[in-house]
Amino acid sequence: MRIAQSIAQVRQLVREARSAGKSIGLVPTMGYLHDGHLALLKAAKTGTDFVVVSIFVNPTQFGPNEDFENYPRDVARDETLLQDGGCDVLFLPSVEEMYPKPLATTVELAGLGQTLCGASRPTHFRGVTTVVSKLLHITMPDKAYFGQKDGQQALLIQRMVFDLNIPSEIVTVPTVREADGLAKSSRNVYLTDEERPHATVLYKALQEAKQTLMEGVRSGTSIAEEMRQRIANEPMVVLDYAEVVSRDTLEPLEKLEGPIMLAVAAFVGKARLIDNVQLTLVGDDVIEG
Ligand code: PAJ
Repeated sequence: MRIAQSIAQVRQLVREARSAGKSIGLVPTMGYLHDGHLALLKAAKTGTDFVVVSIFVNPTQFGPNEDFENYPRDVARDETLLQDGGCDVLFLPSVEEMYPKPLATTVELAGLGQTLCGASRPTHFRGVTTVVSKLLHITMPDKAYFGQKDGQQALLIQRMVFDLNIPSEIVTVPTVREADGLAKSSRNVYLTDEERPHATVLYKALQEAKQTLMEGVRSGTSIAEEMRQRIANEPMVVLDYAEVVSRDTLEPLEKLEGPIMLAVAAFVGKARLIDNVQLTLVGDDVIEG
């Protein structure tokens, strides 16, 4: 595995791979890697010939009172995991390399970036879509891989690539979970032993809502309310939001049909956790994905 710290270096390595006829895969991450990230690497290895993983804790997607400074980092461990996973290039830029000047240009998805997590984190998605568009322009991959765990993020990036004619295919990879259902996340490290068992309430609320849908309920407001109560009643957990939205508009739906997302966010101690389930409703049928 090669490690590139500059944009020029990673571009050169990608150019060489392209000249050798290889297709390019990109897996953007903020590091402190876990099995969720490694599932993206595996999918990229299967889907493309030459895989670049980026690790960049992107300051512009953190709000002023969020955890940028304390975001967990362990590059030595990440390097070993990537090497073992068959990554070809680790792109590890500094903040100065990515942002040599304050940005005059940003990428923002009106509306779609302001709902759900965007309502609680107003500048978050502008930071995400701007840095991801930079990473796509730097590496120009055939395919870029994102986790379904960050469902709104993946939908925004798909829409950005569509709107701006960026010639990379966006591939979404299913959420990797702990044995009890908790979605794997770098931020799970913030959970204390006491808090950890309560964190599964996000997954449980989603599964119970899915069960309610399977029983034939089609009211978005009542299912959202059921999830809110389930989460709010859990000790040590503070609800941020629980919504049932259209996957096209990310707006809450009353009458449920077609492609939907059940999306939840909550604070458990210092950790802000998110999770979602994507379903397609066709008549009485509830189809995963
Ligand atoms: P990060 O949180 O490090 O996640 C990197 C990628 O791994 C994202 O696409 C995320 O959805 C995916 N991922 C995280 N946990 C997962 C899980 N349990 N199962 C499957 N995939 C999972 O998301 C970011 O970084 C940043 O916003 C980034 C896109 C890198 C832009 O800075």
